[in-house]
Amino acid sequence: MSSTPSEHQFQARIDADQRIEPKDWMPEDYRKTLIRQMSQHAHSEIVGMLPEGNWITRAPTLKRKSILLAKVQDEAGHGLYLYSAAETLGASRDDLLADLHAGKAKYSSIFNYPTLSWADIGAIGWLVDGAAILNQVPLCRTSYGPYARAMVRVCKEESFHQRQGFEIMQTLCNGSAEQKAMAQDALNRWWWPTLMMFGPRDDESAHTARSMQWRIKRFTNDELRQKFVDMMVPQAEFLGLTIPDEALRWNEATRHYDFGEVDWDEFWNVVQGRGPCNRERLDARVQAHEAGAWVREAALAHAAKRKARQTP
Ligand code: ACO
Repeated sequence: MSSTPSEHQFQARIDADQRIEPKDWMPEDYRKTLIRQMSQHAHSEIVGMLPEGNWITRAPTLKRKSILLAKVQDEAGHGLYLYSAAETLGASRDDLLADLHAGKAKYSSIFNYPTLSWADIGAIGWLVDGAAILNQVPLCRTSYGPYARAMVRVCKEESFHQRQGFEIMQTLCNGSAEQKAMAQDALNRWWWPTLMMFGPRDDESAHTARSMQWRIKRFTNDELRQKFVDMMVPQAEFLGLTIPDEALRWNEATRHYDFGEVDWDEFWNVVQGRGPCNRERLDARVQAHEAGAWVREAALAHAAKRKARQTP
C-alpha cells in the first residue's frame, strides 16, 4: 500500500523547484494559503476594473477609449483565469464571490482610491500596473502550476498596460503646463498608495515567511517595494516629475534608493474597509453581480438543455 507523502517529501519537491499540480498531495495549509492569495488576487483584478471603467466614457479620444476598454476587459479575463485556478484547489467560485460581496474577502487596497482626472488613468497604468508586474513576474515561477501558468499571460498583458500608462503620462508631461500639473498631481496622489500594494513590512507580514518557504512568494514585500522604487525613480526623472517623498535619495553604499516610511495607519484603514472608496466599490460589485443574475441563469439553462439533447 502506498503511503501518503509527508510534508518533508513535499518540501523536498518544492526545494527542487518542481511544480505542484492539482492532484498532487499538498499540506492543507499550502492549499488554504493559495486559495487565500489567488482569490484575493482575482478579486483585485475584478474590483480593479471599477476605477478605470469610470473613465471609459470620458477618455479624451476614440483611440484612448478603445485602448482603455481593451485594458479593462483584460482585467476581467485575469480575474476569470485566477478564479478558475483557485477552483483547481477545490474552492467554489460562488463561495469566493459571496465572501467578496459580504465584505469578508480582501482585495488590493489600491482600488479603494478615486480616479479624479484623466491623468489618474496614466498614473494607474504607469505606477499600479508597474507594481503589479513586479509582483507578478516572479509569480510565473510560483510553486503551484495552475497559478504560475495563469501568470504568464497576465504578465504579458500587464506589460502592455504599463506602457500605455507611461505613454499617457509622457503625453501629458510633454503637453501644456496645465497638463503637466495634472500628471504631477496624479503622481502625488498615487505614489504612496502604490507602495502600499506590496503589503505590510516584512516584520509585520503574517504570511511571508511561510509563503517564501513554500515558494508561493519568490520575494518578500519589502524586497519588491525596494525594487519598485529603484525602477521608478529614473522613469519619473525622465518624465520630469517629482516623486512626493523628501526622504528619497540614492544610497551609494547599498546601491539602492532610500525612501520614506509608508503611512501604515492609512494602509490598515483601507485594508479593513475604511478607505475613500471601499463602500462604493463593494456596492458597485454587488449591484453588477445582481444585475448579471439572468445571464448566469440563462447560461445554466442552456447548458442543461444541451446536456439533455446529448443524452440518448
Ligand atoms: N491590499 C489589501 N490587503 C493586503 C495588501 C494590500 N495591498 N497587502 C497585504 N494585504 C493583506 C494580506 O492579504 C493579508 O491578509 P489576510 O491574512 O487576511 O489574508 C494581510 O494583509 C497580511 O499581509 P501579508 O502577510 O504580507 O500577506 P501575503 O503574504 O499574502 O502578501 C501580497 C500580500 C504581496 C499582496 C500577496 O498576497 C501577493 O503577492 N498576491 C498576489 C498579487 C496580488 O494579489 N496583486 C493584487 C494587486 S495587482 C492587480 O490586481 C492589478
